[in-house]
Amino acid sequence: MDDRTIPEEQGRSAGAGSALAGAAEAPAVANTRKVYVRTFGCQMNVYDSERMTEALSSQGYAETGALEDADLVIINTCHIREKAAEKVYSDLGRIRQVKDARAEGGSETVVAVVGCVAQAEGAEIVRRAPVVDLVIGPQSYHRLGELIARTRTENRSLVETQFPEEEKFAHLPQRAPARGVTAFLTVQEGCDKFCTFCVVPYTRGSEYSRSVADIEREARALVASGVREVTLLGQNVNGYHGAGPGGRIYSLADLLRHLSRIAGLERLRYTTSHPRDMDDDLIAAHGDEPKLMPYLHLPFQSGADRILAAMNRKHTAREYIDLIARIRAAQPELALSTDVIVGFPGETEEEFEATLSVFAEVGFAAAYSFKYSPRPGTPAEKLADQVPERVKTERLARLQRLIEAQQTAFAAKCVGRTLPVLFERAGRRPGQLIGRSPYLQSVHANAPAEMLGRIVPVEISGFGPNSLAGVIRPE
Ligand code: SAH
Ligand code: SF4
Ligand code: F3S
Repeated sequence: MDDRTIPEEQGRSAGAGSALAGAAEAPAVANTRKVYVRTFGCQMNVYDSERMTEALSSQGYAETGALEDADLVIINTCHIREKAAEKVYSDLGRIRQVKDARAEGGSETVVAVVGCVAQAEGAEIVRRAPVVDLVIGPQSYHRLGELIARTRTENRSLVETQFPEEEKFAHLPQRAPARGVTAFLTVQEGCDKFCTFCVVPYTRGSEYSRSVADIEREARALVASGVREVTLLGQNVNGYHGAGPGGRIYSLADLLRHLSRIAGLERLRYTTSHPRDMDDDLIAAHGDEPKLMPYLHLPFQSGADRILAAMNRKHTAREYIDLIARIRAAQPELALSTDVIVGFPGETEEEFEATLSVFAEVGFAAAYSFKYSPRPGTPAEKLADQVPERVKTERLARLQRLIEAQQTAFAAKCVGRTLPVLFERAGRRPGQLIGRSPYLQSVHANAPAEMLGRIVPVEISGFGPNSLAGVIRPE
């Protein structure tokens, strides 16, 4: 069984989007070369891949979905669990075959490994997989163009994993016209929390918040090109503290309120948050900021206080439950999702059951669950009492049964309600559109194409494992 409820690889449609973006941006060079991008990991990697593709578009690269056609191959990697990291090497095996075949036909292929595995493993990647020409950490990808040129002229592999003094956002081109009606926007990077199981503080570096002006500019560009819903991203997004107008430091609540004034921006979300950083103002914003969607992803990782302490999460199970009660008091419509880890070193059966109890007490609309995976360089990796694989597998299966039941119960409760749905794209059947409810559920309904990009009341008539079905209600 897979150890998670969401795919490790984030899907990405290739081709038309960036070619179009390139045309509208009037690139200095015609799009003659092709780039193939594969993205693993979290939404921040999805965002980074988009920014890289946009930057490359202005340097003459069009995106392709066919590896065989690519002059440049980028794998944007994730180091969070062993399985995620190992996928890179299986991919590189196939890429080597394609690169060799292309070389026989006289075409050059540059292979770049970027993202969190690049940061964590650096030159080791080139040693293990000599097919790789470039290794670039998540804070250095604004230098991609320059490094591609250098690897070609110097005819050797290059590794760039410094945390640079300069800020990458200042060196990236403005956003190209967006591909859809929803978009990610990274506002904060890195993490200073050092949970003992987690690699992120090492792969992404210390916390950094972008300025309000910079974020606003990007949000306005997205809205001008048709985006209606923006999800603010950060490894610790509610720890955001960026420079605002007048030199004042803005919290995430301040930033949300500021962005909500942008006309045409209809919905705001943010992810991922840490329970310790849910301040009173952010809780209040859930009650009084109508553009902020009533959906919150708030990981609790474990329901046992001893395990939470060993994880360095800096809160107890009761504090988490009380926090949820406060947020629900501000916004009674709030739906929740969370992340949990089973089989952290030393976790007993009772401690695992404490995790199940938090589920029972809170009730989640969705949840992501993982078997603990020991990661190189993290404190938990060195703990003696690692839980056997078979126990982790068994606990995960039990937990996932409960999660599924809660997810189904939440979907069932939506039937009969009329929810505002933002239509994003055409459905599989003719005449059908697919959109999102405020709770991030996929909703499909028969709707005219003009409703794309609009928020429309939809009466929910049924549900399947991953989506809701509905009927449009007159506005
Ligand atoms: N910054 C976010 C999460 C980042 S990683 C937060 O603090 O919540 C996403 C999720 O991966 C984490 O919430 C955690 O549940 C899981 N995860 C992280 N490291 C892991 C590990 N070593 N083994 C298993 N799951 C892990
Ligand atoms: Fe990792 Fe913890 Fe930071 Fe989240 S808060 S990124 S789990 S160290
Ligand atoms: Fe993975 Fe890096 Fe995101 S390790 S989860 S891609 S921050």
